[in-house]
Amino acid sequence: MKDKQLTYHEQIVPFSRAELVEKLREALSDSRFSHVLRVEQTAIELAGLNHVDPERASIAGLVHDYAKQRPDEDFIAAIKQYHLDPILLDYGNAIWHGVVGWLFVKNELGINDIEVLNAVRYHTVGHQYMTPLEQIVYMADYIEPARDFPGIDEARRVTKANLQEGVAFQTKQTLSYLVQHNKPVFPQTILTYNSWVPQFDLK
Ligand SMILES: [Fe+2]
Ligand SMILES: [Fe+2]
Repeated sequence: MKDKQLTYHEQIVPFSRAELVEKLREALSDSRFSHVLRVEQTAIELAGLNHVDPERASIAGLVHDYAKQRPDEDFIAAIKQYHLDPILLDYGNAIWHGVVGWLFVKNELGINDIEVLNAVRYHTVGHQYMTPLEQIVYMADYIEPARDFPGIDEARRVTKANLQEGVAFQTKQTLSYLVQHNKPVFPQTILTYNSWVPQFDLK
């Protein structure tokens, strides 16, 4: 699949795509920068399959991991400054870079589009209610071409056939993984599970 480099028209972000890509290159390691480019392309592809705005898919795909390499102190300061749920302090970067990181996307990249911000906010833990764009970023992060884990082919097949079933598939796998490895489960992940998984007849 040839990469799609969109020209932005919708004033969702105060930069051209090329300028936004440079912001990401500066904020991220080389390997994570490559990852967000792949997530962008996968999100555009899923947007095409689901009648979703490709410009929002491109922007949300690019910025979803913007905060991934920020030091813990930045997140702890934001949790306190914005009076976020103090339970967040029991978790770490894996949860913070989305659930808190959207604030850095808003403040530092000048993005105010609520769907793009929520796509960042929910991309790891999901949410009971996710718009198609938010579902797309959640899934593009999971199935981008470099992902390789047992069940990835099934994850890609299900997601392209039915985006919502893809969300259920990932949510079930994530919770199973956390439980099997005795890892803590962020409460939002359980809410996401209850909302998405029982309604599908997953194997
Ligand atoms: Fe992430
Ligand atoms: Fe990611």
